[in-house]
Amino acid sequence: MATYRICFLPGDGIGPEIMTQARRVLDRVGERFGHTFTVTEALIGGAAIDATGGPLPQATIDTCLASDAVLLGAVGGPRWDELDPSIRPERGLLGIRKAMGLFANLRPARLFSQLRKACFLREDIVERGIDVMVVRELTGGLYFGEPRGIEVRDGERVGVNTMIYAEHEIRRIARVAFEAARRRSGRVCNVDKANVLDVSRLWREVVVATAADYPDVQLSHMYVDNAAMQLVRDPSQFDVIVTGNLFGDILSDEASIITGSIGMLPSASLGDGGPGLYEPIHGSAPDIAGQDKANPLATILSVAMMLRHTLGLEAEASAIEDAVSGVLSDGWRTGDIMEPGAKPVGCAGMGAKVAERL
Ligand code: NAD
Ligand code: IPM
Ligand code: MN
Repeated sequence: MATYRICFLPGDGIGPEIMTQARRVLDRVGERFGHTFTVTEALIGGAAIDATGGPLPQATIDTCLASDAVLLGAVGGPRWDELDPSIRPERGLLGIRKAMGLFANLRPARLFSQLRKACFLREDIVERGIDVMVVRELTGGLYFGEPRGIEVRDGERVGVNTMIYAEHEIRRIARVAFEAARRRSGRVCNVDKANVLDVSRLWREVVVATAADYPDVQLSHMYVDNAAMQLVRDPSQFDVIVTGNLFGDILSDEASIITGSIGMLPSASLGDGGPGLYEPIHGSAPDIAGQDKANPLATILSVAMMLRHTLGLEAEASAIEDAVSGVLSDGWRTGDIMEPGAKPVGCAGMGAKVAERL
């Protein structure tokens, strides 16, 4: 029995809808296990731009840092796409990750057996099992490297971004991956582009050196283009994938669809102690926003990750995952994971079913 301070960042598009369902599930966990979750909402993304002129108000950073954990819906949408890049909604998300020092992004892609039919892969491939953990570096690489911008060179404009990693940034994300592998099947696949990029050559060298501290973990390497192909050819070959910011962004969306839908994949963003930030890996889905169509399970499963990783509430986290599994066994499906004969349910209905199960 304890009290926890949780900061909710609903954001834009389907963000507020899925967060309402996450709140319902969190409150139910509180009731059942006798915890008090004190939720404070703060502004981020387009919602913050509309209210304050910028995507990440200082008050939001302060509230997040003063919380035990942060849960985020999604940011962005066509309404804000033409803004100067420095104040786009996405900058709010990148800014809060940086401000909280969240360099490690854990994205576990696991196929619930009930969703075999929602998976696009051949049955014999699915039978081998899909349980991949993408460990994505989150506060460096091409997303943050300098120089960056659009400038004029030789009379025409050039766009510039820089992929840069310092040894300490590589070492600390490698450690997270090796530690994660120890709790799983003991295998790490490092994904880079060391055949072409100097930054990847250093990345691989540091990952190999760090592996010396983890003799019990088996390390392999793969180029990112091959990894993108292998992930759908035979995902069962992967346990933990460790990779940089951009490659991890792309590969985790790819991994999500082999689990049935991007609406199923949660994530944890962690630093060196301090509050963690939890969020579904998908975006604000403007095409279905406000229609009660979004799948809230990625966000609800992110609540489970939050309870487990930051609050140390393992039984509570498992209870949420079991409830999700039970609702899927009962045949309830949002549109993105629909299959013939299943029972259709909307965003709010799905949240209610999970809460009931709890
Ligand atoms: P998206 O993830 O928002 O949507 C891609 C597709 O997946 C859409 O067809 C959408 O309807 C579907 N989808 C996503 N989440 C779903 C859910 N929970 N249930 C059912 N279907 C779901 O990606 P996008 O369209 O490339 O980006 C839309 C906006 O979101 C952009 O502004 C982008 O910058 C932003 N974005 C934000 C985040 C984030 O906040 N973490 C992540 C990705 C994209
Ligand atoms: C994600 C998103 C973000 C990213 C964007 C919205 C900044 O795609 O969380 O995967 O690229 O990290
Ligand atoms: Mn992404």
